[in-house]
Amino acid sequence: MAKAAFFENMANLGLALTYDDVRLKTSYSDYAPAEVCLKTRFTRRVSINIPIVSAAMDTVTEQEMAIEIAKLGGIGVIHRGLAPDAQASQVKRVKFFLNGLIERPITVQSKQTVEEVHRMRAERRWFFHSFPVIDENGRLVGVLTRNDFDFCRDQTLLVAEIMTTELVTASAGTRIDEAYEIMSRERKKLLPLIDEERRLLGMYLYSDVKRIKTGSSVEYNLDTSGRLRTAADIGVGEDALERLALMARYLDVAAIGTAHGDSHNVLWTVREIKKKYGDQFDVYAGNVSEGDSAKRLLDAGADGIGVGQGPGSICTTRIVAGIGCPQVTAVYNCVTATVGSDVPVCADGGVRYSGDIPVAIGAGAHSVMLGRVFAGTREAPGEIQMHRGVPVKMYRGMGSLSAMEASRASRERYRQGGTPSAKLVPEGIEGVVPFQGDLKDVLHQLLGGLRSGMGYVGAANIEELREKADFHRITGAGAAESHPHDIIVTTDAPNYRRDGT
Ligand code: XMP
Repeated sequence: MAKAAFFENMANLGLALTYDDVRLKTSYSDYAPAEVCLKTRFTRRVSINIPIVSAAMDTVTEQEMAIEIAKLGGIGVIHRGLAPDAQASQVKRVKFFLNGLIERPITVQSKQTVEEVHRMRAERRWFFHSFPVIDENGRLVGVLTRNDFDFCRDQTLLVAEIMTTELVTASAGTRIDEAYEIMSRERKKLLPLIDEERRLLGMYLYSDVKRIKTGSSVEYNLDTSGRLRTAADIGVGEDALERLALMARYLDVAAIGTAHGDSHNVLWTVREIKKKYGDQFDVYAGNVSEGDSAKRLLDAGADGIGVGQGPGSICTTRIVAGIGCPQVTAVYNCVTATVGSDVPVCADGGVRYSGDIPVAIGAGAHSVMLGRVFAGTREAPGEIQMHRGVPVKMYRGMGSLSAMEASRASRERYRQGGTPSAKLVPEGIEGVVPFQGDLKDVLHQLLGGLRSGMGYVGAANIEELREKADFHRITGAGAAESHPHDIIVTTDAPNYRRDGT
């Protein structure tokens, strides 16, 4: 309630605030930072183990970033500057990176000869040796394993004559941990999933399942089949629906990322996707910065809402167009307008230091989306270059001139889809950021700061931080006092530089 009064007072003064304008009030705490739980949701049904999302930008999130961030517990939104088929294949690679359940296993027919199967393996470059065997009615009748191949001396025999028929099977919906139990108990390397009529619905391989179960950490952000969570930016309109059709099967979240989420195109696209796909995956839509706008996205059926118009490090929207609301107030207003729904809000853009993350969540966000902070990591697209003797990576706004020239999708994000290059009006800039090394090390510092903030506030988990947080409005002098001062810095800290880089 104190927080509501704080924002009401600010609104009465006509003041909208951003990260450097506020700090969280400390409060009694009996939690050590290491004990706090960071689990939250990105969208209605897609949880994340840490409140961190990597931005849908061509210098931030492609498959490598998406895999690594999901392995570290978050989720990455693959950008739509890629051609639709290239984007779809990247999404698919992330989804199958851990390859838990093989949804459409390659099968062989019981009446094929062993020789035919060998030929198919060579022609199609199948390097594996395990195949479910089906009869002419499509029913599972056996499996072929490496042993069956190895001990077969006559290549003219039928598959039915050498296959293994003592099968252990499971039903549809068997999860990876159940599969691991069954396969370990029954000492089987292959577990077909079938329906009552023995039609094949999928398959687990012990080698994959074991690697995932023993090699993966509890932090991995997995779906119910043990695969990494995926998200991709698809844009708006008919183009978005076509793009989506290529990757819908592999997506947990379809993101409609635009500069102006409260617009006819975005609302239409959300409704169309919901009509066509129902709850097959979640739909995240944005960006907005006013409560009424968030409410319209909610009413259209969005499962997650992106908040942030112009706070980003590479954004010039507020300067070029003269619009926008400072980010902390924008988050608070959008969260307040959607309160009572189970649709989470993601604070997108403007995070400079780890301490901005507890502030965003304290204002009500469920997660934050990061661009610049991740653009310098090894996993971000692009090569390391040297700039004035310092290793750097390129980082550019999706509304920068070069990004808009490179892709129609970027032009559409800024509603300039049909505009020729010479007439483009950019809403972003391009530059470089220092090379930062591995994502996991950058994330370690960010989450360390977040945990520390939660400890100071006395919040054991993200929900408590969202509820308990209260703010001090600080002045420029307060902000200056907050940073190191009156000292010549001789050694950079791993989590602090004055300019945020
Ligand atoms: P940070 O501060 O993390 O912000 O670098 C990343 C977010 O900025 C948005 N974005 C843009 N906004 N012009 C804008 O006004 C642009 O060219 C641009 N490119 C990205 C986007 O929401 C991203 O997640």
